[in-house]
Amino acid sequence: MSEMNTDQYRVKAEPFYRPVGNEVELYNAAYARRLPMMLKGPTGCGKSRFVEYMAWKLGRPLITVACNEDMTASDLVGRFLLDKDGTKWQDGPLTTAARIGAICYLDEVVEARQDTTVVIHPLTDHRRTLPLDKKGELIEAHPDFQLVISYNPGYQSLMKDLKQSTKQRFGALNFDYPQAETEADIVAREAGVESEIAVKLVQIAQRARNLKGHGLDEGISTRLLVYAGNMIAEGVEPMAACMMTLVTPLTDDPDMYETLEAAVQTFFVE
Ligand SMILES: Nc1ncnc2c1ncn2[C@@H]1O[C@H](COP(=O)(O)OP(=O)(O)OP(=O)(O)O)[C@@H](O)[C@H]1O
Ligand SMILES: [Mg+2]
Repeated sequence: MSEMNTDQYRVKAEPFYRPVGNEVELYNAAYARRLPMMLKGPTGCGKSRFVEYMAWKLGRPLITVACNEDMTASDLVGRFLLDKDGTKWQDGPLTTAARIGAICYLDEVVEARQDTTVVIHPLTDHRRTLPLDKKGELIEAHPDFQLVISYNPGYQSLMKDLKQSTKQRFGALNFDYPQAETEADIVAREAGVESEIAVKLVQIAQRARNLKGHGLDEGISTRLLVYAGNMIAEGVEPMAACMMTLVTPLTDDPDMYETLEAAVQTFFVE
């Protein structure tokens, strides 16, 4: 195997991550024993940021794959490509991660079809191997390799869920929007707004989160609060900033739109 440029997968600078519980300690222990991990939680609550932070802290390269329903096993594992000299094997991201000892993060793994998902099975039990069937090669995972998947339980349906035989190959951590003070700190720090503003943004989000299941599929995420903070820091008037980041993206329903608009007005009157 030729030397691979692993540098491109390094997390160069320390990502800002504010722990919300004991997730850093638990993840450290999981990594020490190379336990595959599942991060569960709603969109925009800090799962990806956490993985980037842990990869940086552990000094491991990070390879992230956004999963979708069109993805095939070859997209993960690799395929033969045609070039002018004939056919050439190209490793997929999972294969590269297993070879170089990276942390491989499969984002929204439920989106992938089950026949795609099963390729991770031999990597996630005592075998720690990855068969490249088309190439006729069996890879033994690098000792530092670890697999991490994310999973949004809210999107789960009968059609789309992980098989038990997949789920039961992972340790799991629950993620959720941080508690109010922590979330306000995150927003202030990430967007560069005063804490007074950040506190108001979090209060708006808390109201909207109560509407989940009552007309809203998802509450306002930490990510959207950071967007709102960024717009305000950029000089956009707070009401307009909130409409553009916290209300309009969230709903197409006119009644819900008004409800959310009223919630924003409570905190930022025009
Ligand atoms: N604990 C935290 N520390 C620092 N920043 C955070 C934290 N939680 C959330 N954030 C902020 O929220 C943003 C969204 O988080 P992230 O991208 O990690 O969400 P996610 O859970 O991976 O969402 P998705 O499921 O949609 O991929 C981050 O870019 C960051 O600004
Ligand atoms: Mg993510």
